[in-house]
Amino acid sequence: MKRAVIIGTGSALPQRVLSNFDLEGMVETSDEWITARTGIKTRHIAGVGEETSQLAAGAARQALAMAELEPDDLDLIVVGTITPDMTMPSCACLVQKELGARRAFAMDVNAACSGFLYALDMADKYICRNPGWKILVIGAETLSSRVDWQDRNTCVLFGDGAGACVVTGAEGSRGYLASRLFADGTLWELLHLEGAPGHNPELRPNVNTDPSIMMYGREVFRHAIRAMADAVSRVLADQGVRPAELSLVIPHQANIRIIRSLAEHLALPLEKVYVNVDKYGNTSAATVPIALDEANRQGMLKTGDLLLLCSFGGGFTWGASLIRW
Ligand code: ACO
Repeated sequence: MKRAVIIGTGSALPQRVLSNFDLEGMVETSDEWITARTGIKTRHIAGVGEETSQLAAGAARQALAMAELEPDDLDLIVVGTITPDMTMPSCACLVQKELGARRAFAMDVNAACSGFLYALDMADKYICRNPGWKILVIGAETLSSRVDWQDRNTCVLFGDGAGACVVTGAEGSRGYLASRLFADGTLWELLHLEGAPGHNPELRPNVNTDPSIMMYGREVFRHAIRAMADAVSRVLADQGVRPAELSLVIPHQANIRIIRSLAEHLALPLEKVYVNVDKYGNTSAATVPIALDEANRQGMLKTGDLLLLCSFGGGFTWGASLIRW
């Protein structure tokens, strides 16, 4: 059986960097608080020409170049995002236009911070049926457009960016081995982002007219650790893999304390856990593919290595995937 193999990665970040010290001048906070409670030092904030689709296309071009493919080689584009440029068309359609990937069909996946993991899992399922396909999988967000910049509880946490990979089918032991994906919509209120109220007063009459991201941080924190640890344990057990056999773990980058706690649960040394939350903050669906691209370009991934990805986000949605590089 052929599996989905990652043959190219890429990432793109907005030019503008916003530091904790910059935030000190915007809300009542401090570099000390943000660093101690989250591990974040800086984040990138999108400006003109850096819409979600543009960042996504930038990351995609790098991934295509590494894969030595042209846009017309693509069969499918899937973008994990909760901040598409517009509701319709999808961000994926705009990326298709931007790249000139005329043969590819295109769609978005809305699974918040787990968007990239969900999208990659879909790509693997398409590859199983169509091993010759070339699929572009992207996680891209501009959450800066959806945070309340006067709410210190949330505005210090998020950043913008995009990461991408190209997958195709290959014979052998390499590739996407397994995944465990989950959702629990009963807990949606703990972390949500309302849409525009719309023109039918009968539908969601109390909806906020200026929706910003809403998060009960402490609750989300608790669920995130438990859920990710559970998903990871299950996917490892499914494959009979011990945590010590993992070469690298790329977790969702929301908070260094969550990442450390996860490493402790797995009895993994922190050196095996990729961390860049200090530079970019929480870029939602983009955290995992940006980190994947960085690790790949730094030569941290060798053929045959076991790589674990895991994520947790609004929905709630969460999961873990195991890949042999
Ligand atoms: N600066 C200074 N003080 C602050 C700030 C700030 N930026 N933000 C909150 N505080 C204060 C609070 O008001 C509170 O004060 P009080 O005790 O007087 O009420 C105090 O700091 C502690 O607040 P907590 O919320 O308890 O702080 P906590 O240690 O839980 O850290 C945080 C908050 C960073 C949000 C943490 O809970 C967290 O990371 N949660 C998980 C986030 C996450 O994983 N999200 C993933 C998905 S995101 C997605 O899907 C898009």
